[in-house]
Amino acid sequence: MELFKTIKEIREYLKAKKDEDLTIGFVPTMGALHEGHLSLFREAKEENDIVVGSIFVNPTQFNNQDDLARYPRTFEEDIKKLEEEGCAAVFHPSAEEMYPVPDTTKFDFGNLDKVLEGEHRPGHFNGVASVVKKLFEIVKPDRSYFGLKDFQQLLIIHKMIKDFNLPVELVPCPIVREKNGLAMSSRNELLTKAERKQASLIYKTLKFVKVQSGFQPIHELKNYVNREFKRKNMKLEYFEIVDMYTLEPLTTWIGSKTVIACIAVYVGNVRLIDNIILFS
Ligand code: PAJ
Repeated sequence: MELFKTIKEIREYLKAKKDEDLTIGFVPTMGALHEGHLSLFREAKEENDIVVGSIFVNPTQFNNQDDLARYPRTFEEDIKKLEEEGCAAVFHPSAEEMYPVPDTTKFDFGNLDKVLEGEHRPGHFNGVASVVKKLFEIVKPDRSYFGLKDFQQLLIIHKMIKDFNLPVELVPCPIVREKNGLAMSSRNELLTKAERKQASLIYKTLKFVKVQSGFQPIHELKNYVNREFKRKNMKLEYFEIVDMYTLEPLTTWIGSKTVIACIAVYVGNVRLIDNIILFS
């Protein structure tokens, strides 16, 4: 497996691959890799001649400097895992390499980045879109793989691809979970054993919501979820039932055909997100 730190080097490497007409599957990550990430690499491997990954903890998408400082970094282990998955190359640039001048790119995603994560993490999606666009322009992949775990991110990237006519196919991949239902996340590394157990309430609640969807009124379900997290002393940042494509909040099930429930919860001081598709 090849490791590149500069744009110039990876471009040269990939140009040779493209000259051989090989298709490129790309998986952008921030490292601290777990089975959720690896599932994306596996899917990419099945559908492309070569797989390229990136490991870059992108500073512009962190609206909280503490979160950036605490973000887990396990580079040596990550490289081993990607080697085992048969990844051809990894791009691991420095912040200076990616941002030689301060990033002033501004995207307009309409409503998509104003709600849910966007409301609570101002600037986050602008930073995500900015780095993913740069990475797409460097790697020029045929397909790129993103997890449904970050559903809003997936919609934002989809819109960016459409807005700029980027020649890349976006491939959404299912959420990989721990045995207790907790969605795998690099941030889970920051949880204590007791907190991990506590965090299983998130998926348990989402599954209950799915069973009740279409039956219990939306406002009653929302009240139930709020009460459950309060009862367990966990800070619920939001729980919303929204249209899957517009992310507009729904107040009734009637006429709603594509619906997703999205949640953000603090377990101790670790912020976790999850979602479940109710109708599609
Ligand atoms: P990161 O959080 O490292 O996630 C990289 C990719 O892995 C994302 O597409 C994410 O949705 C996916 N992923 C994470 N946990 C998953 C799980 N449990 N099941 C399935 N897929 C999962 O998302 C980012 O990095 C960054 O915002 C990035 C796109 C790299 C831009 O900096």
